[in-house]
Amino acid sequence: MATSGNGACGVSAAASGAGSEAVVRVEGLRKSFGSNMVLRGIDLTVMPGQVVTIIGASGSGKSTLLRCINLLETPDAGHVWFRGKDLAAEHVDINALREKIGMVFQSFNLFNNMNVLDNCTLAPVTLKKTSRQEAEKVALANLDSVGLADFAGADVNTLSGGQKQRVAIARALCMKPDLMLFDEPTSALDPEISGEVLEVMRRLASQGMTMVVVTHEMAFARSVSDEVVFMDEGVIAEKGSPEKMFTDPEKPRTREFLARYL
Ligand SMILES: Nc1ncnc2c1ncn2[C@@H]1O[C@H](COP(=O)(O)OP(=O)(O)OP(=O)(O)O)[C@@H](O)[C@H]1O
Ligand SMILES: [Mg+2]
Repeated sequence: MATSGNGACGVSAAASGAGSEAVVRVEGLRKSFGSNMVLRGIDLTVMPGQVVTIIGASGSGKSTLLRCINLLETPDAGHVWFRGKDLAAEHVDINALREKIGMVFQSFNLFNNMNVLDNCTLAPVTLKKTSRQEAEKVALANLDSVGLADFAGADVNTLSGGQKQRVAIARALCMKPDLMLFDEPTSALDPEISGEVLEVMRRLASQGMTMVVVTHEMAFARSVSDEVVFMDEGVIAEKGSPEKMFTDPEKPRTREFLARYL
């Protein structure tokens, strides 16, 4: 296995070997903010079509991990490979790779000065140079898939939270991502509204989308995940199948955390 001291050398032995089919491989990832060491050596592999959920207490580093995967944050040490490419390598086109990683945030982050359709076509037209006609066709198909075909012309400010989040998912899908990152996508929503967003995510998972989902929705994590990762103070304290994690976790910290939800 490569270690975090290898430097930025492109495709590593680890990433080019038998595991090269991984969508994301994280090794030895470390990140501090000042003296606050937030990620203390994270190793994680996400294979095509896998749904990995990340659970853990507030401040354990879940968002920072997601933000390092799409380079919204720059890691201090360690590596992130996306489809075999080291994101820290100098010759790698970060923007091109990032276009293949969709991100959905707790706070929607829609462009409030645009209607629903323009939210969905902006990135394909400006970043990928897709024709407007093609971008609109793709956008309408994705809006349809999240149940919002009739809202293409709507002002986003008039939508409910659940509708906004479904637009955010459709918008991310318009870039035809290889990986979707979700950071607590339902935390800002009322419980009865969360269901419609979780249903869209569930469908996406069943269609084979590779997903990393930070969530406190334990029923969702249990039913949709291939792997559940429990983060505690900047490390992966335990990971495993949903059955194991939710019925028979090994670590006292995992049990203690889950006891709050079960
Ligand atoms: N840009 C930043 N600058 C300084 N400190 C940060 C920054 N981003 C995160 N932190 C700190 O890093 C730690 C981990 O934050 P992070 O957002 O990754 O946790 P989290 O597990 O996502 O928590 P939550 O469940 O509350 O969202 C916290 O102490 C936070 O204050
Ligand atoms: Mg967070």
